Amino acid sequence: MVRESSPTHDIMRAVQVLRSGGLVAFPTETVYGLGADAENGTAIKRIFTTKGRPTTHPLIIHVGSLDELSTWVEKVPAAARALAEHFWPGPLSLVLQRSRRVPLAVTGGLETVAVRVPAHPVALALLRAFGGAIAAPSANHFGCVSPTTACHVQSDLGDAVDLVLDGGLCNVGVESTIVDATSEELCILRPGGVAREDLEHALGRAIPEKQTKASVRVPGSHRSHYAPRAQVILVDPSRLIDEAHRLTSCGYQVGILLPHDIAPDSVAARKILQAPESLTDYAQMLYQFLREFDRSGCNRVIASLPSEEGVGVAIADRLRRAAEPRGTIKTFKLPQTLEELCKS
Ligand code: TXA
Ligand code: MG
Repeated sequence: MVRESSPTHDIMRAVQVLRSGGLVAFPTETVYGLGADAENGTAIKRIFTTKGRPTTHPLIIHVGSLDELSTWVEKVPAAARALAEHFWPGPLSLVLQRSRRVPLAVTGGLETVAVRVPAHPVALALLRAFGGAIAAPSANHFGCVSPTTACHVQSDLGDAVDLVLDGGLCNVGVESTIVDATSEELCILRPGGVAREDLEHALGRAIPEKQTKASVRVPGSHRSHYAPRAQVILVDPSRLIDEAHRLTSCGYQVGILLPHDIAPDSVAARKILQAPESLTDYAQMLYQFLREFDRSGCNRVIASLPSEEGVGVAIADRLRRAAEPRGTIKTFKLPQTLEELCKS
């Protein structure tokens, strides 16, 4: 059931659903989350089965304010506090040592937990009325494109969710940046809505580049992810038009995610969607675009990577993962410590 907007009675209904162990999909500024009471083991199990996600793949917990952080984590190193103060509410998840209140079912057995305060009025109203932590992965099937509207959630998960709160189109459009902040030596585990440059600016120091590589293994951070049904093919922009002709002449239903600086009338395809010039706008539209290619019956999508600055790093990361063959989905052996995570 989709509920439009966020009048108080819908929030109260959502709180009742959470308290009785149900699942509530809710908007955040990044993507829609599939929420459950973080302290209810049965509800957490339901998240994994509903998404078809391995239980070793840890969930992010969402809280209503920075003041609540100390309830859910053991200690908050100075760098973590500085980032939380600067970016929360916002698209930044901090990985910290979990407190006893966070069940291992949430963390996939890890002694750490990812926490964030989302910057969406509906999410904040829900969290404040609920009072506890809400564990929420993106509200889509495992490995598929994340939802940025309530309709996406409804069409992906349907009646498997007890309530969907509709907060319109998500502003940021790609998931939060995840930072291992368990020590003063920070490590970006997933690029997202907060750019590395902005993290560094807030900290007043660099986060070592070598630790931000996509090769860093995060449990559940599979190479193939965020993928539409159509096969995504990444090409250099100079080869895009030729490649579209070649695939069309082979009989494929071709979609093109056209860079902002190539004229759309220079190419023929089943569906052409043009990337906005602003990387912020592009991030907001990326998942909508991938879904639209599927809806239009495309079975191949040709795209080029945007410039990898700011949120362009997250867009490029999602496009690369979307382009990985599905066969590369692997379950990584869980590293024991975050130090191992960053080194691996
Ligand atoms: O923007 C977002 O982060 C959205 C919204 C709903 O908040 N959530 C989201 O959750 O993207 P999900 O489950 O799709 O992705 C969570 C990622 C996973 O890749 C997981 O590996 C990582 O967070 N993660 C969670 N806890 C972790 C931990 N303790 N250590 C390392 N990585 C962790
Ligand atoms: Mg996800």
